[in-house]
Amino acid sequence: MSLELKGCLFDMDGVIVDSAVHHFVAWKRLADELSIPFTEQDNHALKGLSRVDSLEHILRMGHLQLDEKTKLKLMAQKNAWYLDLIKGMRAKDILPGARELIEELVAEGIKVGLGSSSRNAQMILDNVGLTPLFDTVVDGNHITLSKPDPEVFLKGAQALGLDPRQVVVFEDAESGVKAAKTGGFFAVGVGSEEQLGQADVVVSSMKEVTLRDLKSWVRPA
Ligand code: G6P
Ligand code: MG
Repeated sequence: MSLELKGCLFDMDGVIVDSAVHHFVAWKRLADELSIPFTEQDNHALKGLSRVDSLEHILRMGHLQLDEKTKLKLMAQKNAWYLDLIKGMRAKDILPGARELIEELVAEGIKVGLGSSSRNAQMILDNVGLTPLFDTVVDGNHITLSKPDPEVFLKGAQALGLDPRQVVVFEDAESGVKAAKTGGFFAVGVGSEEQLGQADVVVSSMKEVTLRDLKSWVRPA
């Protein structure tokens, strides 16, 4: 694929910080209380989904139908457990390689944005000290459709003043890779080839990506 690299959009959970495991722990606790079997494997399908879509997914797994008021209560409970797990998150919790790559991009004048389904994204970015490096933050508070819909990335590209064809998206979720591809972006999957096979390139960690690599991927010699 050949594109003029002008910007990068990063998912947050599982790409910039290792919060995906905390989401799992909090959902698992909720599923246990509802007596719904829920494994780490099941959790992969939840990555990238909004809070409400995640809850609906778990309830479907348990063939459970609940009224709106109860669902709101459950989501508030899950979020309270999650916030408790991440409250100590600081710069040390940035995933290896993420800050280095973002700094390289900024130094090169390449625009940097966040595209996350999480409503907690801005707070986490502030706590780990990365906010000043971002030109735009689009998160769960700004979108109506969560991944795999491309809305979050299309809004991110628009905020950066770029066309999707000029932007690379970094994602650890299958739903996120799908969102990026549907939106017309070049997608770098961060995780396993098995789960993220739809991405243009898959790396096992952000440590494996430098600006030089990115340029060679989007503009093969
Ligand atoms: C990210 C995570 C999901 C999470 C969603 C909503 O996309 O990958 O696992 O459910 O954000 O997060 P929130 O912090 O708003 O509950
Ligand atoms: Mg993620």
